[in-house]
Amino acid sequence: MASIHIPVMLKEVIDNLQVKKGDYCIDGTLGAMGYTKELLKEVGKEGKVLSLDLDEKAIAEANEIKKEESLDNLIIEHSNFRNIKEIVKKHFSLQQKFNCIVVDLGLSSDQLYDRERSFSFQSDAPLDMAFSREELNDTQRIINTYSQKELEKIIKEYGEERFAKSISSNIVKERKKKTIKTGKDLQNLVTKTVPKRFWPKNVNVATKTFQALRIATNEELQNLEEFLPQAIELLKPQGRLAVVSFHSLEDRIVKHYFKREAKDCICPPQAPICVCKHRAKIKILTPKGITASKEELEKNPRSRSARLRIAQKI
Ligand SMILES: C[S@@+](CC[C@H](N)C(=O)[O-])C[C@H]1O[C@@H](n2cnc3c(N)ncnc32)[C@H](O)[C@@H]1O
Repeated sequence: MASIHIPVMLKEVIDNLQVKKGDYCIDGTLGAMGYTKELLKEVGKEGKVLSLDLDEKAIAEANEIKKEESLDNLIIEHSNFRNIKEIVKKHFSLQQKFNCIVVDLGLSSDQLYDRERSFSFQSDAPLDMAFSREELNDTQRIINTYSQKELEKIIKEYGEERFAKSISSNIVKERKKKTIKTGKDLQNLVTKTVPKRFWPKNVNVATKTFQALRIATNEELQNLEEFLPQAIELLKPQGRLAVVSFHSLEDRIVKHYFKREAKDCICPPQAPICVCKHRAKIKILTPKGITASKEELEKNPRSRSARLRIAQKI
């Protein structure tokens, strides 16, 4: 199947990673190979790119392309980037360090418009927002078994949805009558719950609820938190890490992690002397982060919520 995914801030990512011939790089979120293909060009035949994805379809398509185009310097792994150190150990020597690492978080347009899945609202497909199809169907388990309080917390925290309480209460009422099975079931429930005058203008009223359930299903924030320290450890001195996030919660995790790791001391401000012995590991190259250009926003509306942050290992 031809991909419809347009890579976000491709030029900004590649330019800022400053990749050279012979470099070793990791793309933690292969997707439709947008970044991976550019990285392969930059590292040339002497370099290597290790690319990971949780999605079996993305992996299968990338394997086809690798074969067709004889991309011998590409290693593809079906895995979660939270296991990055383990994956590196599988393919390289223990001492191997990398010149660049990138992750482009969330889901691709290919996943969003996949009719067999229910990442999108109108879908009659089973409610299943797991990136990997091998895993248990956690979205249905979450929605049909979690307590009202747990659902409210997920929808409020991960979706920043002001109607989290009434949505979660209606989910619990509805599932007593019948199991909530499809994307459409959930979208109808949210549509009935949120008063029309509060519907957002440009996006579906169920967007925030879907996003919250997707984040919970895939443990997206936990994945990112576990990945960041491993990524810094895997970089060579002067090596660069780029993270593209689409959600303020993800961006906050990256921003705070970078800030902490860029400091020599992380003792509380009232401490008279430093006792933490923490030493800066990185330099932040993008204090405010980079957002998509006006031209890109016009061509690819998906880029509107993207923020790119880059750090360099000291
Ligand atoms: C926004 S897309 C990446 C698109 C890619 N940069 C491109 O240009 O084609 C995000 C991809 O990351 C994958 N993904 C999300 N979380 C992941 C994780 N924890 N580990 C590995 N892959 C993950 C998704 O399955 C999806 O294919």
